[in-house]
Amino acid sequence: MTWVDAFRAHEDDCRRAPSAHNTQPWLLRSTDDTVDVHWDPARALPDSDPTRRDLFLSLGAFIETSLIVAAAAGLPVRADIAVDHAAQRAARFVPAASVYDTPFTLTSVHQRRCARSGYVPGVLDPAVLAALTALGADLRQVPTRDLVAPLAQADRWMFGTPEVVSELRAWMRLSPKHPRYHLDGLTDRAMALSRVEATGLAAMLGPRAYAVTRRLGGPALLAAASKSLLRYDGSVLILVGSAVTPETVIEHGRALVRVWLALSDRGLSVHPLSQLLDCTATATRLAERLGLAPDESPLAVFRTGHPLAEPVRSARIPAAQL
Ligand SMILES: Cc1cc2nc3c(=O)[nH]c(=O)nc-3n(C[C@H](O)[C@H](O)[C@H](O)COP(=O)(O)O)c2cc1C
Repeated sequence: MTWVDAFRAHEDDCRRAPSAHNTQPWLLRSTDDTVDVHWDPARALPDSDPTRRDLFLSLGAFIETSLIVAAAAGLPVRADIAVDHAAQRAARFVPAASVYDTPFTLTSVHQRRCARSGYVPGVLDPAVLAALTALGADLRQVPTRDLVAPLAQADRWMFGTPEVVSELRAWMRLSPKHPRYHLDGLTDRAMALSRVEATGLAAMLGPRAYAVTRRLGGPALLAAASKSLLRYDGSVLILVGSAVTPETVIEHGRALVRVWLALSDRGLSVHPLSQLLDCTATATRLAERLGLAPDESPLAVFRTGHPLAEPVRSARIPAAQL
């Protein structure tokens, strides 16, 4: 068996990486001695993610997760990151002199998950924040309550923007009867919605109903529903960095997943709130509040803490079905 075969035998573990809307945009293509990471344009989010920040973060998350999985299998592999837009390729895995040095294990990869319901009140232990920073991430901390109003504004923008809602609708799986419920996208359970809430959301955002929902103030109503999300004393972390090239964003995606794994290994979950960055008004105010330099931007925003309920395991497409 070649190292390529040995590596690809673990593809399902690599695919536990997180991705925006759980689109799983990555595609592996191998030769006898290389494995290339491509992205599937049909799994990008051109309207919600026009700068492709989340696409490249998700590719970085996949690359880092894959290196951890390879290390767990004892395979010496490294990733050469170089984006080729024409070929839609992000990186190439090649044989390395030694096994990737990482504190994370296969268990870390499998246990990490997003949690979107209630969190135990309490801010992040400063020692944990210091340990996260040591993983190569520039993280800023903001109290949850400070972002209640910006999140409501960002949610109103999100639910009021037809193209963004249309992409969300395409990736929501609000009933177990959805044909892709166990494969990809955001399920009702992953979004911590009750049956009634899931049915209500499906009715409001349905392709025909949405025009009426939008006219009758539905976006404000939907935004109001998430207001309680940050009304407790907790921590929101913001990953800050330069996003001048896709390669740098991929590197930030690698750091982001290391941070999420380190939190997960300590029993802490994350809940990303990317709408705060997608909405120009709230993103600008956040950058001002953090006093960022012109070449820096907020790249990911997420609350973190001990979840009140066990988070669900999200769906993935098995490699054998690709
Ligand atoms: C770059 C990026 C952006 C994300 N943005 C959001 C978000 O705005 N809201 C959210 O609830 N989850 C967000 N997520 C989390 C994904 O939805 C999640 O990773 C995916 O559904 C798989 O679930 P898991 O992480 O629990 O395995 C984001 C993830 C990534 C990598």
